[in-house]
Amino acid sequence: MTYAAITGWGKCMPPAVLSNEDLSTFLDTSDEWIVSRTGMKQRRISHVPGIDLATVAGRRALACAGLAAEDLDLIVHGSCTFDEQVPNSASGVQVKLGAVNAASMDVNTACTSFLYGLSAASAMVRTGAVRNALVIGVEVISPYMDWSNRNVAVLFGDGCAAVVLQPSEKEEGLLGEQLGCYADARQILRVRGAGGVYTNRGAQLGNTLWDFDGGEIFKKAVKGMALASQKVIARCGLTAESIDLVVPHQANLRIIESVAKHAGLPMDKVFLTVQQYGNMSAATVPVALVDAIEAGRVRPGSTVLMPGFGGGLTLCSHLVRWGDRVTPLAASDAELPPCTRTALELVNDIRARKGTYDASADGLLWPRFAEVDAAQ
Ligand SMILES: CC(C)(COP(=O)(O)OP(=O)(O)OC[C@H]1O[C@@H](n2cnc3c(N)ncnc32)[C@H](O)[C@@H]1OP(=O)(O)O)[C@@H](O)C(=O)NCCC(=O)NCCS
Repeated sequence: MTYAAITGWGKCMPPAVLSNEDLSTFLDTSDEWIVSRTGMKQRRISHVPGIDLATVAGRRALACAGLAAEDLDLIVHGSCTFDEQVPNSASGVQVKLGAVNAASMDVNTACTSFLYGLSAASAMVRTGAVRNALVIGVEVISPYMDWSNRNVAVLFGDGCAAVVLQPSEKEEGLLGEQLGCYADARQILRVRGAGGVYTNRGAQLGNTLWDFDGGEIFKKAVKGMALASQKVIARCGLTAESIDLVVPHQANLRIIESVAKHAGLPMDKVFLTVQQYGNMSAATVPVALVDAIEAGRVRPGSTVLMPGFGGGLTLCSHLVRWGDRVTPLAASDAELPPCTRTALELVNDIRARKGTYDASADGLLWPRFAEVDAAQ
């Protein structure tokens, strides 16, 4: 039987750090509130588009696997914050990498986009539809953020990481996954309005309207990730005790602690990044995975559980068996262009561009669909 081994990994974090103190210069919030309710101390703000973060992470992951860009048959770009509406972002990464032989597709299941992309790409490698695949989790949320809304503005950050998949005859890579979606609650986490890194006439950065019921999402995230984890562990014929490492989606430290408790997973097996990166949506799990490998927490043959939750409300838990290699075959010299501004300056620039446009005053484009809209 053919498996899809993870043979390369790499991350690309924007260097500008936005602290809780920075946020409290323009929001009615405090370091004490943010740390006690979420565990977050800081997050990153990107000075480049998501495609550029993904290209650097992709180059690093390819070098780690010892592959050239031409060797790629597939690029999966997991994200919910795209630089442009059309064409897709994966094709932008493909052209920057020079991956001339690849097919390219985007996957958007919000915070779970990397993990759903990992499912899709692993299945294609396992059937033989493709050989070498690059799976990216990237998010540049800062231009989509409503920076006037303290309920959401303190929670998110930008970031990116990617993995390379290759066929293997050994039982490694993704062993199983549990996927699901609480679609009847999709309206409690919703972003509407203009976003992306390119401004259009009349559509400016940050003119988004966020519907966000944090308390309700919290409860559903705990239930969804805990149940999905229990199911995938059982389906793979394993027990909670046999999990070596948990690399969860990181929306809130208290959510992670509750998931671990409900799924019978001790916190000392959970790898945390929420303090320094916040919630990077689709980038959260792959960035944490790369950090865990670099910290020596992933060993040859390790069993790694990756629970995820996000808008939709999509949920999942992925169980991976690591292969023999936990060190890169080679390093890439790919780097981002230098960032000359502080994270607070980058955010204040987005805030200043917001102008007087009021996204909340905008209604549905086609009133005859209003009834349908209200029901969803
Ligand atoms: C958002 C979240 C941190 C709020 O924590 P919480 O413990 O539920 O917060 P509480 O309900 O106790 O407190 C809410 C109060 O804090 C206030 N508040 C919200 N954000 C705040 C901030 N950044 N600073 C200070 N106060 C804030 C609210 O206005 C509210 O005040 P009120 O009670 O006077 O109305 C938490 O619910 C959460 O993490 N939810 C899920 C996160 C999520 O959805 N992530 C994305 C999907 S994976």
